[in-house]
Amino acid sequence: MQEIPQFVQQVMVDMYGSLPRQGPGSAGSTRKAFSMLGPLPERPTVLDIGCGTGAQTMELAKLTSGHIIALDIFDWALDSVSGKVVQAGLVGRVHTTKQSMDAMDFPDETFDLIWSEGALYIMGFEHALKTCQRLLKPGGYLAASELCWFTDDPPDEAQEFFETGYPDIITLGENVRLIADCGFEMLGHFHLPARAWWDDYYTPMSRLLPALREKYADSPDAIAMFDDTDKEMAIHRKYGKSYGYEFFVCRRG
Ligand SMILES: C[S@@+](CC[C@H](N)C(=O)[O-])C[C@H]1O[C@@H](n2cnc3c(N)ncnc32)[C@H](O)[C@@H]1O
Repeated sequence: MQEIPQFVQQVMVDMYGSLPRQGPGSAGSTRKAFSMLGPLPERPTVLDIGCGTGAQTMELAKLTSGHIIALDIFDWALDSVSGKVVQAGLVGRVHTTKQSMDAMDFPDETFDLIWSEGALYIMGFEHALKTCQRLLKPGGYLAASELCWFTDDPPDEAQEFFETGYPDIITLGENVRLIADCGFEMLGHFHLPARAWWDDYYTPMSRLLPALREKYADSPDAIAMFDDTDKEMAIHRKYGKSYGYEFFVCRRG
């Protein structure tokens, strides 16, 4: 995966580091997806891919008594997870690992459960499904949220926007077929509710941006990142019914 320049990483820390989540999601949605899983071993081995600062990792730690590995590529995200783990007294049960999701070094059939919220698009959903299929034990579970069109005829302006941000976005129906083609049995799926986009993500982000625009006033690259984020929020306000994150819960065949 492409190396991210140091300056961009610093701007990312300022944009995302203090937010409750680094993408759309909510504790309620994490719990709902978890409730759709079948039976797990008493102490499941869990992998959280693209954990960010660990909102869903910490929720998973409450929901299972298993061993959780939280994986991300950024130190600032993993350091934040580690701090929360210490504070919650979960050292020994939740570990972090700095790895790129497209080069994970776990042996095949390691995990009872793979979790990923708003992150698998980074390696491409199909590639991610095949990788998770390999890393899961037979009968293991995958729970992941993925951006989908909710219509076969998306609005032109939204399509143009995702042409740069996520050109591989496909419809919900296409993703359901893809998941089956990759050897998973679907246990259920649901749309992330509108509040899951705003409460812990877009609303705190929009409060942060004015101060960041001042801090980085002399940096056109940073300003372009803020403009993209404002555009993303405007697109979501306008077309949020035409696309969204679908939380898929499935079992490895
Ligand atoms: C949209 S955020 C979601 C974070 C978190 N799951 C949440 O919902 O709050 C995507 C996460 O993937 C991480 N990420 C980006 N590229 C990655 C890669 N190649 N391998 C692993 N994680 C990556 C980012 O650092 C970020 O934390």
